[in-house]
Amino acid sequence: MAEDKSSLVPVEDLVKKPYREILAYPKPSDEPVESRIRQLKSLGIEGLKFEGPLRIGKLSLLGKGVVGLVVAGIADGVRVAVKIRRVDSRRRSMIHEAAMMKAANKAGIGPECLGSSEDVLEMQFLDGQRLPLWLSSLKGRGRKARVRATVKALLQQCVRLDAYGLDHGELSRAHKNVLVSKEDHPWILDYESASLTRRVNNFTSLAQYILLSGRFSTKVIRILGPVDRDELVKYLRLYKSGRTNDAFESTLKMLQL
Ligand SMILES: Nc1ncnc2c1ncn2[C@@H]1O[C@H](COP(=O)(O)OP(=O)(O)OP(=O)(O)O)[C@@H](O)[C@H]1O
Ligand SMILES: [Mg+2]
Repeated sequence: MAEDKSSLVPVEDLVKKPYREILAYPKPSDEPVESRIRQLKSLGIEGLKFEGPLRIGKLSLLGKGVVGLVVAGIADGVRVAVKIRRVDSRRRSMIHEAAMMKAANKAGIGPECLGSSEDVLEMQFLDGQRLPLWLSSLKGRGRKARVRATVKALLQQCVRLDAYGLDHGELSRAHKNVLVSKEDHPWILDYESASLTRRVNNFTSLAQYILLSGRFSTKVIRILGPVDRDELVKYLRLYKSGRTNDAFESTLKMLQL
């Protein structure tokens, strides 16, 4: 889909205030600002669009974390999401995160990695809401069916990542790392802590977050109906022991997914 370019800030203009702060947050000195402009250009990014739910000063962004700021951008006329490494990030480059996102993509999971450089990760733009906001936005009839479908899809994605051998590493904090699109499709984000060598824990971490512990699970259970916790814990143990298919199927059956 072609994009409206009226609010596009061309890459060359990002050297100016207030944009430069986004390029090298939180301390935009000349060297990193210029380097990041070169990186955006080399990735074919035409400009950035300051839109989204998060604000820094006068600018709107898609998101902000301890590693990067995520901004909407345009490349080849198409909207993309651009994660720009913070200069105070504990990660020294975006290289590992890009490699892990590409691995997830091979398993059919996550926003598509479109390109990367030392400090920039260009990926598929997702128009979605974080899990807690998505859940509280659901109203009226059909809510239960929608939650069921999304929870099932999300657990399925975890099983796929597990089978591929990629451990996401932060799915026990899924409120930050999952976006749900308008069609209720879940997307697993943020592969900075992912590993292809660590023991995989995606399914068990996510099932625990969604169904067993914390405020979010209480809300999910209120909609889906009561869950036999002991039985679920038993299935998660079974999953860990390697009988992943049996455990997955039993979990779905128990939850009537
Ligand atoms: N592809 C995308 N499309 C749209 N929004 C996105 C996309 N990727 C990330 N975001 C938004 O930006 C936020 C921050 O992204 P991300 O979690 O990758 O950053 P981070 O610095 O690693 O954060 P954290 O400190 O929580 O680990 C996400 O929670 C999400 O709201
Ligand atoms: Mg992160």
